[in-house]
Amino acid sequence: MTTTEPTTGTPALTDQAQVLLPLFAGYVGQRTVALGLRLGLVEALATAEPSGATPDDLADRLGLDPFYVAVWCRAAFGAGVCDRDGTTYRLAPHMATLLLDETSPAYVGGTFTLLDQPEIFDRFAETLASGERLWWDTCSPEFIRKVADTGRPFYTRLVPSGLARVPGLAERLDAGCAVLDTACGAGVGVIRLAQAYPRCAVTGVDGDAHSVEVAAEHVGEAGVADRVRLLVNSLEDLDLESSYTLVVNNISMHECRDVDRVTDNIRRALEPGGWFVISDFPFPDDDAGLRSIPGRIMSGIQFFEAQIDDQLVPRRFYDDLLARHGFGDIGSSELTPMHAVTYGRAPGH
Ligand SMILES: C[S@@+](CC[C@H](N)C(=O)[O-])C[C@H]1O[C@@H](n2cnc3c(N)ncnc32)[C@H](O)[C@@H]1O
Repeated sequence: MTTTEPTTGTPALTDQAQVLLPLFAGYVGQRTVALGLRLGLVEALATAEPSGATPDDLADRLGLDPFYVAVWCRAAFGAGVCDRDGTTYRLAPHMATLLLDETSPAYVGGTFTLLDQPEIFDRFAETLASGERLWWDTCSPEFIRKVADTGRPFYTRLVPSGLARVPGLAERLDAGCAVLDTACGAGVGVIRLAQAYPRCAVTGVDGDAHSVEVAAEHVGEAGVADRVRLLVNSLEDLDLESSYTLVVNNISMHECRDVDRVTDNIRRALEPGGWFVISDFPFPDDDAGLRSIPGRIMSGIQFFEAQIDDQLVPRRFYDDLLARHGFGDIGSSELTPMHAVTYGRAPGH
């Protein structure tokens, strides 16, 4: 129970310390998990199932210092990532899926190592006075890889089950049609779309040439290059024929420099009645939301968004956007507290 100062009604100093202490603990947990992922400790624990491993076993397997590994194991236990029995450690239930399984819709491992990248906090601090912005072409290849890892579970939830929630869409995709992934990044989505809908032709477009090069490599490795076309183009200058049945945008619509121009271009690229599906972080628009765990995590992402001169937006922003560009049958669904989908159909159906 929160105690209050008798005269002012403000919380007591000791209660306010309780606001700060979990922040230290969260920071320690974040660094511990990111370190464990980067150095292979989490993976080594996963492969040690079902017997588990001692810090000495892990150190031996990975060529690391046993004393340091013991310190990591204890911190991972404290964070709830591991269980232990004497000196034997095991990953806690479902941690292997959550932290390592890139194919799972619940995968969050990529976010730990993304938050450690200098583009999120370090560069923000360095440019706090100048406000100097950056764009994707000046982000490191590693950062782009980590962003793709973070975007991957969004695509996994979207394709096919998230798209199946959009009335009438799944039938068209199963029958075969043209699909466009706008701001396709490193190509995770175009591959998912091509694999989930073998009768569809998929186009991916992104304004960053390096991301599209990486996407081309991944598309080739996935064996879907015959049905995938990739373009380097800013969405503000996109000029495609009205031939697409579906346009998707994953965790990128909030980045548009001119969101109205982009939405017009997308409406023009759609056939009459075609669907535009926006999959994005729903940034909270009230105080309670900002203080929620998802709100606090999304506030962290805003440090990077600020540097590329934008911010995540509340989901309702997209209802208004689609409505003012003539889209009909507008709807939405929440796939997780940090992932919402908003959709609408182009005029003319
Ligand atoms: C957060 S990443 C997401 C990439 C991909 N959709 C994913 O989920 O992995 C944002 C991407 O949007 C692209 N982008 C942002 N604004 C753009 C614009 N106005 N035109 C074209 N691409 C844009 C960036 O180059 C970057 O690859």
